[in-house]
Amino acid sequence: MSNAFTQRQLRDAFGEFATGVTVVTAVRPDGEPVGVTANSFSSVSLEPPLLLWCLASSSSSVPAFAPGASFSVHVLSHEQRELALHFARRTAEKFEVDLHWRANPHPPHLDGALCRFDCRVHAVHPGGDHVVILGEVLVLTRGAGHPLAFHAGRFGQFSADRGSPKVDVWDGANDGWF
Ligand SMILES: Cc1cc2nc3c(=O)[nH]c(=O)nc-3n(C[C@H](O)[C@H](O)[C@H](O)COP(=O)(O)O)c2cc1C
Repeated sequence: MSNAFTQRQLRDAFGEFATGVTVVTAVRPDGEPVGVTANSFSSVSLEPPLLLWCLASSSSSVPAFAPGASFSVHVLSHEQRELALHFARRTAEKFEVDLHWRANPHPPHLDGALCRFDCRVHAVHPGGDHVVILGEVLVLTRGAGHPLAFHAGRFGQFSADRGSPKVDVWDGANDGWF
């Protein structure tokens, strides 16, 4: 099927959606720890507590995310840009360098994240050249700091507009804001 846009145009258009940055860690069935930088993270559900992210089906990390497997999502702070770049590399041995990770309990936990969601794979859905991984959140750990932001291929920081009121997205779903 031919589209009215090129893949480059689609990538650039997707990149207009500003996001935070996460590193998702898990352990493959062969015992290899894996870690992938991902900005496809999204919250999904409060009850049950679900989140999702998308992983390239070509990734060597796919076997680590079979239904029932454990994984951890680290929401990176603005100080963790190097970590984001490190886990964006296509290399098997991402845990060989000193990255302050603790092998116990698995999957690897990285220090310094804004928050960490320890999850169990709830479902894996096909999504074109990616798989959509739904995780049930089992444990929530909060840190402190400012978020690492990503937009149009660049890292940066988020700053709230002065005087901008706090909006509760989840309440809005029930009551409406407008
Ligand atoms: C900011 C940023 C966001 C990324 N988001 C994703 C993503 O959501 N899903 C994905 O599969 N790859 C994403 N990548 C690319 C992966 O991090 C990279 O391909 C992966 O770490 C390769 O590791 P692997 O060889 O273990 O698969 C992203 C890269 C960057 C720099």
